[in-house]
Amino acid sequence: MGNHVLCVDVDERKIALLNSGGVPIYEPGLEEMVARNRAAGRLEFTTDAAAGVAHGLFQFIAVGTPPDEDGSADLTHVLAVARSIARHMTEYRIIVDKSTVPVGTADRVASVAREVLRERQLVVELDVVSNPEFLKKARR
Ligand SMILES: NC(=O)c1ccc[n+]([C@@H]2O[C@H](COP(=O)([O-])OP(=O)(O)OC[C@H]3O[C@@H](n4cnc5c(N)ncnc54)[C@H](O)[C@@H]3O)[C@@H](O)[C@H]2O)c1
Repeated sequence: MGNHVLCVDVDERKIALLNSGGVPIYEPGLEEMVARNRAAGRLEFTTDAAAGVAHGLFQFIAVGTPPDEDGSADLTHVLAVARSIARHMTEYRIIVDKSTVPVGTADRVASVAREVLRERQLVVELDVVSNPEFLKKARR
């Protein structure tokens, strides 16, 4: 869609693979799409969270949420990324929950992020948006 996207992951091997033109998941047409957008300079990959937070207004959280022992979603990784965003942000950011999470998670994400901002004694606004699926309207 023409957006300039910087993807952050803690998995160095995955990022190295993506930066060498590989794609770690299979989806028809995805490899070509990734190659086209990398070549156009619109799609980049890094392990540098600070660079990710500096990159753009919208910060998508899309980490795994494996089922906990009681079957509920484990939010450890989601909340870790929320804290990481707050540790690095210096101006207004919109955090988008893309991970599959239960109702109420946006409040928890906002709350842990604001806690970190308070610890940093930084007065910066943030908002949290829930976007559990990509609901782009199909073109006919
Ligand atoms: N795959 C889909 O089409 C799809 C669609 C809608 C929602 N979701 C949801 O999105 C979430 C992720 O799904 P997935 O299939 O991409 O999972 P995945 O396990 O393939 O990828 C998650 C990635 O997050 C990385 N990660 C973990 N902790 C991190 C951190 N602190 N900072 C940066 N990166 C970190 C992992 O290294 C891993 O590469 C899940 O909650 C899933 O339900 C997925």
